[in-house]
Amino acid sequence: MRRRLFVNVDHVATVRQARRGRYPDPVAAAVLAELAGADGIIVHLREDRRHIQDRDLRVLMETIQTEVHLEMAAVDQMAGVALEARPRVCVLVPERREELTTEGGLDVFHHPAEIRRVVGRLSQAALQVSLFVDPDEGQIRASREVGADMVELHTGEYCNARPGEEQSRQLERLRQGAQVARAAGLRVAAGHGLDYVNLPSVRAIPEIEEFNIGFSIVARAVLVGFERAVREMVGLLRPSDSPAGA
Ligand code: PXP
Repeated sequence: MRRRLFVNVDHVATVRQARRGRYPDPVAAAVLAELAGADGIIVHLREDRRHIQDRDLRVLMETIQTEVHLEMAAVDQMAGVALEARPRVCVLVPERREELTTEGGLDVFHHPAEIRRVVGRLSQAALQVSLFVDPDEGQIRASREVGADMVELHTGEYCNARPGEEQSRQLERLRQGAQVARAAGLRVAAGHGLDYVNLPSVRAIPEIEEFNIGFSIVARAVLVGFERAVREMVGLLRPSDSPAGA
C-alpha cells in the first residue's frame, strides 16, 4: 500500500501570527510541500484562531492541487465552516483553549451522541470524516459506531515514550489499534509528534495508510528549507520513491 504524507502547515501560520503580519504564508508552504511530493495538506482551524485563519483555509481550497484535510473541534459552528469550505476529509479533534497543542484523542466512547451528530452533518454533505483517537479498542469501535470513515491514531504517547520498554509498549498499542480499526472497516491514519527519527517504526505498521506530520517538518524547514524538509520526510515514508533509494 502506498503510504501517503499529509503536511500540516499550522506552524507556518504560528510564525506569521507572532507578528500578526502577512508572512510567512502557510499557503506558500503548502504549495512547496506539494511540489516536494506531499500527498496533501492538513490544517487545524482552531476555535481561537491562534494560527490558521479562515482566509488561509479558503485560499488553500482554491490553490491546492492535491487534497486539503481540515482538523476541527467536534462542534456545530466548525461543522458549518467545513460544509462551506468542503475539504476532502474532516478530522475531528478535542480542543481546549489552554493547551499548547492537541493533547490526547477524542473521547468518542463516553460522548458518542454529540460526536455522532457532527459526523452525521458532515457525512450527509458527502465529506469524509476521520476521528482522532487514542489507539484503544473501545475508542476505535465507538468511532465506527458513530459513523466515521476513518480514524487517526494518536501517536503522541508513543513519540513521548522513553526508548526501551515503554516505547515498545506504545508501539504495540498502535499496531493493535491499527488492526482493530482495519478489521472494523475503518481506514487508518496516524499523527502527532512524528518526526524524522520516530517515523520508521510507525511506518512499518501495514494498516496505516496516511501520516499527518507538522511540527517536525516546519522546524526542519526553518534550517534547510521547506521543499527539502518535506522531500526528506517523503523519503522516509516511501524509500523506493527517493532518488537515492535510501
Ligand atoms: N494530527 C492531529 C490530529 C493533530 O492535532 C496534529 C497537531 O496539529 C497533528 C496530527 C500533527 O502533529 P505534529 O505537529 O506534532 O506533527
